[in-house]
Amino acid sequence: MKLLVTGGLGFIGSNFIRFMLAEHKNCNIINVDALHYGSNADNLCDLGGMDRYTYRHGDISDEAFISSLIEDVDWVVSFAAETHVDRSISSPGSFLHSNVMGVYSLLEALRNHNPTARFVQISTDEVYGDILDGSFTEESTLKPSSPYSASKAAGDVFVLAYARTYGLEAMITRCTNNYGPYQFPEKLIPKTIIRARGGLKIPVYGTGQNVRDWIYVMDHCRAVEKVLMRGRKGEIYNISANEEKTNLSIAKSILDMLGMGEDRIEFVEDRPGHDARYSLDSSKIRKELGWHPEQSFEEGLRMTVSWYLQNTSWYKPLVDDKVLSAAPWKLKW
Ligand SMILES: NC(=O)c1ccc[n+]([C@@H]2O[C@H](COP(=O)([O-])OP(=O)(O)OC[C@H]3O[C@@H](n4cnc5c(N)ncnc54)[C@H](O)[C@@H]3O)[C@@H](O)[C@H]2O)c1
Repeated sequence: MKLLVTGGLGFIGSNFIRFMLAEHKNCNIINVDALHYGSNADNLCDLGGMDRYTYRHGDISDEAFISSLIEDVDWVVSFAAETHVDRSISSPGSFLHSNVMGVYSLLEALRNHNPTARFVQISTDEVYGDILDGSFTEESTLKPSSPYSASKAAGDVFVLAYARTYGLEAMITRCTNNYGPYQFPEKLIPKTIIRARGGLKIPVYGTGQNVRDWIYVMDHCRAVEKVLMRGRKGEIYNISANEEKTNLSIAKSILDMLGMGEDRIEFVEDRPGHDARYSLDSSKIRKELGWHPEQSFEEGLRMTVSWYLQNTSWYKPLVDDKVLSAAPWKLKW
């Protein structure tokens, strides 16, 4: 089998590639990544020389380039996206380029060159906006709050339209916040670990009461694999582990695991449009495809903290004042 992955030098994509190569011994993978902000060639340096894995540098919005690769693949999974909400607030343009035009080019390449390939578009819970009580289902209205989530929502509706109009074998997954190894240091969990380790204060936006539903990255990868193999064309699958935590409690848990006190926490100005709570109902993928999360939050977080402590040489070249900033949405990117 031949699988085209896009954005495979990012956090989730690189974990997914390693997972698929281990689980499917007959699977050959081509990874297309534009090496944009947040990517890191070192995420997959352990695969160098493996004949079932090929990296091609390129942009998903380059339709001719994608078309040349897509013709004979069986599966396509697209992680490629600009992903950092704070950066989308100060510089939204690149988010439209990758998350809207990039998805459109990918769909055109599929429509014209390989309409029967199975295609999974990796989306996010953020397209639904926030919810104070209850949980969003796949039928919930899209109400994105940030330029990032608006661009992801726009990509999603194009995918649905192409499945309906052109009969593409396309599906969408919408997952909650991921954590685990190889996550770029600007994101909440790695940033907290790295700042704490470096003796810095831990910035918490607002009062720290914003709630996110966390999932260990490998549980997300297993869910995407299930949708790729057995998901129904034109369907959306929510993915969540029902591990809702406030940002403040995440900071406290990490400090506790590092043997540090809560006095390291510093409350900082909240970012504009900050969603209060995300929550997904993932009963559809659980019932239809038999998926469920395997990793408890406590154990997954402990593994993640220990991975960052042991892999300082991985994150050190990626870290600067901007990446570790306490208010990244105020910076010009
Ligand atoms: N991280 C999360 O918690 C989370 C949660 C739900 C959904 N998602 C979704 O999962 C996907 C992957 O997220 P991530 O956290 O691994 O992001 P990431 O920023 O770590 O990786 C994204 C990758 O996409 C590449 N890329 C960006 N634009 C590209 C383009 N035009 N052409 C080719 N490559 C391009 C980047 O170079 C990078 O390697 C995204 O689509 C995101 O919306 C992420």
